[in-house]
Amino acid sequence: MFYEPKDGHGLPKNPFNSLVVPRPIGWISTVDMAGNVNLAPYSFFNGVAYNPPTVMFSAGHSRVEGEDGLKDSLRNVLETGEFVHNFATWDTRDAMNATSADLTRDVDELAMAGLTPIPSRLVTPPRVKESPIHFECKVVQTVQLPNTRDEHTYTVVFGEVVGIHIADDLIMDNGQIDIGRLHPIARMGYQDYSEVTAETVFTMERPGFHPYAK
Ligand SMILES: Cc1cc2nc3c(=O)[nH]c(=O)nc-3n(C[C@H](O)[C@H](O)[C@H](O)COP(=O)(O)O)c2cc1C
Repeated sequence: MFYEPKDGHGLPKNPFNSLVVPRPIGWISTVDMAGNVNLAPYSFFNGVAYNPPTVMFSAGHSRVEGEDGLKDSLRNVLETGEFVHNFATWDTRDAMNATSADLTRDVDELAMAGLTPIPSRLVTPPRVKESPIHFECKVVQTVQLPNTRDEHTYTVVFGEVVGIHIADDLIMDNGQIDIGRLHPIARMGYQDYSEVTAETVFTMERPGFHPYAK
């Protein structure tokens, strides 16, 4: 099939979410100016640069009634310029999902999901202790995507990763990350996810490969 998204897809569910897969999940902790903590997953998330390391996440329209239409994570980064990405793993999957609930801005999803906040070093938002990797990020740019069709817009937030925490037991003797032990999960379409295990990782030698910059 071929379709132009502006004309609709004709399928029971929008397939787009299943056509860009698997996606990493940015599990974003922020605080507002009053110090209220927020935590939510964003799978429109990725790394976009090595040096300085930079990530992005994209926030759509909030469905919470009676508020300003901004998702709390976006409102908080616009206010404070800071966020933390907490790595989503197999062990944290249920908590990650719980923190996606559409809740009012005063609700601390980190506490609501029974997770443990631990301080960051360089930014104010806390880290999720149960997550083995954390990126402390400072916003470098936000881009509001143009949308001429309805009132809903997406805003992409780019953040420089100014501090990286890695659980020591993830670092193997050869200095590489043990992906099997990390056990990442990824977003597929619809309500589906996939998991990465040691058995599903494979290696391919890249032609003309030069090692990644140190
Ligand atoms: C795995 C997963 C990925 C998600 N990815 C996004 C996303 O990329 N952008 C978005 O706007 N909402 C996304 N959502 C929905 C948000 O997590 C949800 O709207 C949440 O309530 C936003 O919280 P906040 O208002 O506290 O920031 C995702 C939900 C799940 C479960």
